[in-house]
Amino acid sequence: MEEFSLYVLDITMNSVRAGADKIEIKLEEQGDTLTFTVTDNGCGMSPETVKKLSDPFFTTRKTRSVGLGVPFLKMLAEQTEGSLTIESKEEATHPDDHGTKLTAVFGYHHIDFIPLGNMIDTVMTLIQGYPDIDFTYDHITPRGTVHLSCEELRAVLGEDISLASYEVLEWIRGYLTEGYEEIDQK
Ligand SMILES: Nc1ncnc2c1ncn2[C@@H]1O[C@H](COP(=O)(O)OP(=O)(O)OP(=O)(O)O)[C@@H](O)[C@H]1O
Ligand SMILES: [Mg+2]
Repeated sequence: MEEFSLYVLDITMNSVRAGADKIEIKLEEQGDTLTFTVTDNGCGMSPETVKKLSDPFFTTRKTRSVGLGVPFLKMLAEQTEGSLTIESKEEATHPDDHGTKLTAVFGYHHIDFIPLGNMIDTVMTLIQGYPDIDFTYDHITPRGTVHLSCEELRAVLGEDISLASYEVLEWIRGYLTEGYEEIDQK
């Protein structure tokens, strides 16, 4: 994959498939590093599964026998002198506080890092596809922060309006575009 935003989409889809209804996506630029975290309240994984995750041939998918999402991201992190870690609590053993947190650190200015790509498209794709999930998106930079919370939006719009409706999606696109214009201009 050539753009980082596609990795973000791919990794967040793991949380969607894990049945999460709250998913926090965070990108934080700090000095030479970019830290990417996805935190979800999905079904979680056993410690054995977490261990196997760095193996590119491990997947619990039934439709395809090879899972590549996490190993690819790990490779990109390590190529740029960063790292990838996963903390997870499985539903079976932690019925009240299960979920997964993936943290990937990248050398943001490393020659092997790839273009960020279109984060707005990634966020829009997720909200459009899964309007009932509470996504939180934060892109924190030294120039300012782009922040979107589906829960906050829903509180304003009321329960009857879907976040996937055309007007709401267009509003979200405008809001994120403005947010990015603001931090890109500084
Ligand atoms: N957030 C998560 N919550 C629960 N299980 C997860 C999570 N992320 C990954 N997993 C487990 O790890 C496995 C491997 O994930 P990975 O993204 O590497 O491959 P995949 O999703 O199976 O396939 P691909 O990403 O190539 O479509 C998944 O099949 C799933 O069982
Ligand atoms: Mg995956």
